[in-house]
Amino acid sequence: MTSHQPIPTSMYAIVAEKPGEPDVLCRECISVPQPNKGEVLVRVMAAGVNRPDIMQRKGLYPPPANACPRLGLEIAGEVVACGAPQEGEEMPSLGSRVCALTNGGGYAEYCVVPAGQCLPWPQGMSAVQAAALPETCFTVWSNLFMPVILPAGTRVLVHGGTSGIGTMAIQLVRAFGGEVYATAGTEEKCNLCKTLGATATINYKNEDFLTRVRELTHNEGVNVILDIVGGAYFNQNVKCLAVDGRLVIIALQGGAKAEQADLSRIMTRRLTVTGSTLRARSAENKIRIAQELYKYVWPLFDAGTIAPLIHAVFPLEHAAQAHQAMENGQHSGKIMLTCSH
Ligand SMILES: NC(=O)c1ccc[n+]([C@@H]2O[C@H](COP(=O)([O-])OP(=O)(O)OC[C@H]3O[C@@H](n4cnc5c(N)ncnc54)[C@H](OP(=O)(O)O)[C@@H]3O)[C@@H](O)[C@H]2O)c1
Repeated sequence: MTSHQPIPTSMYAIVAEKPGEPDVLCRECISVPQPNKGEVLVRVMAAGVNRPDIMQRKGLYPPPANACPRLGLEIAGEVVACGAPQEGEEMPSLGSRVCALTNGGGYAEYCVVPAGQCLPWPQGMSAVQAAALPETCFTVWSNLFMPVILPAGTRVLVHGGTSGIGTMAIQLVRAFGGEVYATAGTEEKCNLCKTLGATATINYKNEDFLTRVRELTHNEGVNVILDIVGGAYFNQNVKCLAVDGRLVIIALQGGAKAEQADLSRIMTRRLTVTGSTLRARSAENKIRIAQELYKYVWPLFDAGTIAPLIHAVFPLEHAAQAHQAMENGQHSGKIMLTCSH
C-alpha cells in the first residue's frame, strides 16, 4: 500500500444496529479499512443517500456476499492510499479527487473502493455534487444507454421523474436528443421535470399515465420505459410501448408480481422486458460502465450542460434525519451527507 499522509487507524462510520426505522442508524468507531490489490482508500468528503440504502436499513435489501455490509453506495473525496494495481490497470494518483461507486461503506470517514469504479470530479463541481453522480449515472447509463446509445428522437417514459434517478435520466435522455415523458406525484414535481427537460409530464396521482401517453404519442407509444414501480405498473407499461419497445424495470415499489399480464402484446409488438440491479453487477461490468460514463457523460458535466439536482445536505452524523427526509418523499433530486475531518 502507498500513501503520502498519515492515516488514522480508526474512524467513525454510520451503521444500522439492527433492521428498522431511521433511528437504528448510529455512529460507531471502527478500523480504517486497508485497500487491497486494485483498490484505493478515499478520505470521504461527501456521500449520497439512495433509496436502496433505505431498503437495506430496513433489512429488505441485503448486500451481496462479497460487498461491505455497511451503508453508502457513492462517495466523493481524496485518494489517500492505493493498493497494488491490477495488471494493466491505471490507479488514481494519491491526492486526486474522485467520486466513486462503492461496494458499500460510504457512510464513513474513509472508504475503500475499486480503482475502476472511480471517476474524477467534473470541472467546477463541489464534493457534494460529485458524490451525487455515481449511483444515478451508473444506473441510468447502464439501463438506458448500454449496449447501444439511444438514438436521437427516442421517446422515453421515466417513472418518478424527480427521484435522484429520474432527475438524471431526464437530463441524460434530453442531452442525447431523446424526448422524455415523466411521471411525478405533484404539480410542483411535474413542473420541475419540465424544467429539467421533459417534453410532457403526468401526475400519476390524478391522471392515468397510459391514457396520457397514448394521447401524447398519437397512439404510437414510447420506445423505452425506465420503471421503478414494477408489478403494479406492468400491464399499463406494456400497453404504453411502441412496436420494438423496451421496458426496463429497476425497482419494485409497486410489488414484484404482475397480475393478469397479457403476454400476447409482448409477442405481437416485439417488446423487450428487462431490468437490473447495480449492486449485483460484476466488477468488470461496473468498470465498463465507468469507462463509458467518462467518455460520453463526463464531458457534459465538465461543460455544465447537465448537473445533479441536490435537494438537501446533512452532516454524516445526522444520517438518520437524511433517511427520514427521503422516506417523507417531499424531496426532488438527491439527499446528501457531508463528512468533516
Ligand atoms: N436497479 C438499480 O440498479 C437501482 C439503483 C438505484 C436506485 N434504484 C431504484 O430507483 C428508484 C429511485 O431511487 P432514488 O434513490 O432516486 O429514490 P427517490 O429519490 O427516493 O425516489 C423515489 C421515487 O419513487 C417515485 N414513485 C413512487 N411511487 C410511484 C408511482 N406509483 N408512480 C411513479 N413514481 C412513483 C416517487 O415519486 P413522487 O415523489 O413524485 O411521488 C419518487 O420520485 C428507487 O425505487 C430505487 O430503489 C434502482
